[in-house]
Amino acid sequence: MKQINAVITGVAAVVPDYILTNEELSTMVDTSDEWIMTRVGIRERRILKGEHQGISVLGTQAVKELLAKTHTTPGEIDAVIFATSTPDHFFPSSASIVAENNDIKNAFCFDMEVACSGFVYGLEICNGLIKTGKYRKIILVAGDKMSSITNYNDRTTCPLFGDAAGAVLIEPTEENIGIVDASLHSDGIGYKPLQMKAGGSKFPASHQTVDHNEHTVHQEGKVVFKFAVSRMAEVSEEIMKRNNLTADDVDWLVPHQANMRIIDAVIERTGLPREKVMINIERYGNTSAGTIPLCLGEWEPRLRKGDNVILTAFGAGFSWGSVYLKWGYDGSEIDAAR
Ligand code: UT7
Repeated sequence: MKQINAVITGVAAVVPDYILTNEELSTMVDTSDEWIMTRVGIRERRILKGEHQGISVLGTQAVKELLAKTHTTPGEIDAVIFATSTPDHFFPSSASIVAENNDIKNAFCFDMEVACSGFVYGLEICNGLIKTGKYRKIILVAGDKMSSITNYNDRTTCPLFGDAAGAVLIEPTEENIGIVDASLHSDGIGYKPLQMKAGGSKFPASHQTVDHNEHTVHQEGKVVFKFAVSRMAEVSEEIMKRNNLTADDVDWLVPHQANMRIIDAVIERTGLPREKVMINIERYGNTSAGTIPLCLGEWEPRLRKGDNVILTAFGAGFSWGSVYLKWGYDGSEIDAAR
């Protein structure tokens, strides 16, 4: 029997319309375009405005576009998995909301929470599900409405985050393409330096938790920075080495977009030229689980079948990991290829 590989056969990414610039942020907190650009590399980020607009709004749109461009009917989908830390509700899952909004009725749906590493963790889960031979079409959605958990009075965190969601279709193939390897890691040492303290079962919402601003991101930036730089660089190098890939062999590196200086460190460690690295942090900031599918969506027209792609992420937990995959189709010929 031939080996079944799990391959991405389509990608769609969505950002909201509203652009929050560094200039506007400078009117809200004591900061400047110069500080944010030098220390982080973000010029603007997208914000999902309007009342009662959860991450499912962006997830629904991404899945809608994905179904259309891959000519897939809702009834064909076996599973919808949504990687997010900002679900619409604790329950039901945002995956089931997005499925319902797209008339997907035959799928099992669940959310998974691995903060910024959600997309790479999600790919490994989808890889395992596809390899059982039981499922034909799985949608992995990843994204966050970070503006819903950002304290816009805290200048150390509010410039960093934005809102976005992306979705990929994953299918089995017997061709030598698709997900080749994944290396995922966690270290609970990250509990204190990067967390949202309240709103869960340990500190349920109360007047006190609201008064103390405990429903927004708390980050000890320098501590997280140190771990992010070293772990993302290490795991990218690790996955390249164990798959005998040199910088020349890799066509694309897709790093999580948290800080341009972290991306630079990964570039230096892997030895890749900058033109092979997907970078859009300047326009969207850190959209948590959304950064990697957002890059894939933007670069899709330039991706070729068989391209060696390394995805790498770091986030709360701490959690981090890399996925090595061979791209599944010529992005420039999406319609012709199907
Ligand atoms: O995505 C998940 C993982 N998250 C990350 O990977 C984020 C990792 N951390 C970082 O990217 C960086 O640590 C930050 C961008 C969050 C902060 O950059 P930094 O170079 O580590 O700055 P810092 O926190 O050490 O602050 C340096 C100075 C401080 O002033 P003093 O104490 O030197 O006088 C801050 O008060 O910059 C000040 N500062 C600001 N100034 C203007 C902090 N935030 C701002 C701001 N505007 N927005």
